[in-house]
Amino acid sequence: MLRPPASIIIAGTGSYLPEKVVTNDDMARLVETSDEWIRTRTGIRERHFAAEGETTSDMATAAANKAIAAAGIAREEIDLIVVATMTPDMPFPSTACLVQAKVGLGNVTAFDVQAACSGYVYALNIASSMLQSGAYKNALVIGAEKTSPILDFQDRTTCVLFGDGASAAVLSTSAQPGVGILGSIGGADGSNPELLYQPGGGTAIPASVDSIDARQHFLKMNGKEIFKLAVRVMEQASLQILDQHGLTTKDVALFIPHQANMRIIESLAKRMKVPLERFHNNLDRCGNTSAASVGIALDEAFRQGRIQSGDLVLLVAFGAGLTWGASLVKWH
Ligand SMILES: CC(C)(COP(=O)(O)OP(=O)(O)OC[C@H]1O[C@@H](n2cnc3c(N)ncnc32)[C@H](O)[C@@H]1OP(=O)(O)O)[C@@H](O)C(=O)NCCC(=O)NCCS
Repeated sequence: MLRPPASIIIAGTGSYLPEKVVTNDDMARLVETSDEWIRTRTGIRERHFAAEGETTSDMATAAANKAIAAAGIAREEIDLIVVATMTPDMPFPSTACLVQAKVGLGNVTAFDVQAACSGYVYALNIASSMLQSGAYKNALVIGAEKTSPILDFQDRTTCVLFGDGASAAVLSTSAQPGVGILGSIGGADGSNPELLYQPGGGTAIPASVDSIDARQHFLKMNGKEIFKLAVRVMEQASLQILDQHGLTTKDVALFIPHQANMRIIESLAKRMKVPLERFHNNLDRCGNTSAASVGIALDEAFRQGRIQSGDLVLLVAFGAGLTWGASLVKWH
């Protein structure tokens, strides 16, 4: 008989950023933009781009190895792999299967989650539910993204925003009650997918010479609309999950929001009346790394000593779909 554990903890985290740094001045050599415009509108100063031939699964593997080392468990103990990505190495097999082989894990359950920039939070929520069932003991949750190949370097309104990277967490069952992932929520509104999408390459517009000529394999976005929705859904998700647990924003030691735009984070903080200092951000160095973003920020915040035992941490994200999600974690 399956025995549900007392709690699910984040036993270790890791992240990886590719070596190549692309500054705003570098971007200004590609499209008509400036360091000043990008910095003041987004907070981004630079981002990392993966090397040619360096894949999403390569970055995921690097982050995974660090998370496993931080968790201090043997890789044989991992019995579940969930990878969140919208830029898989290939449509199939899943990036999770490729990571399984590259990290040298056993023949355990492995699959991808596609929730765009909400992917890490979605994956965390799915994996923790699977652990909560008692059927799994240690899950490797990864958010990894190589956005650079789907950026249109003829579209200055989008190409300056994104970067590449990966993040990972080992989730483990624990006998200690009241710690770890206290709860999670998710949501989606698929009524307006064109707000942020990659039209080509799927079954709607299969890859063809025409689709490539029409630049349909690149990311397209209505930035203004997404901005407004982002602030609204992240506020709602944060307040909803706190309310479900009888908590308020005052109880949260650190917010880890999706890193899309510094002005989105500032608006969110203002609307929730929380000092900006309680929001971790790394936009200046990473840009928007999509599904990797929340995990990179979490790993960074923990390694910088911003998260202590007993702290309540709220992860919140939004992304294409539209999707959104939040997780509430009491650090063990
Ligand atoms: C994209 C975004 C930064 C644009 O900022 P904005 O303040 O809304 O800017 P606007 O779209 O109003 O554009 C203002 C002007 O700047 C120009 N502009 C856009 N990108 C530019 C760039 N990289 N460099 C210079 N000028 C630029 C526009 O063409 C426009 O010029 P115009 O007034 O002559 O037409 C902002 O809307 C945003 O961040 N949205 C959310 C995007 C996001 O987070 N996506 C990821 C979701 S997971």
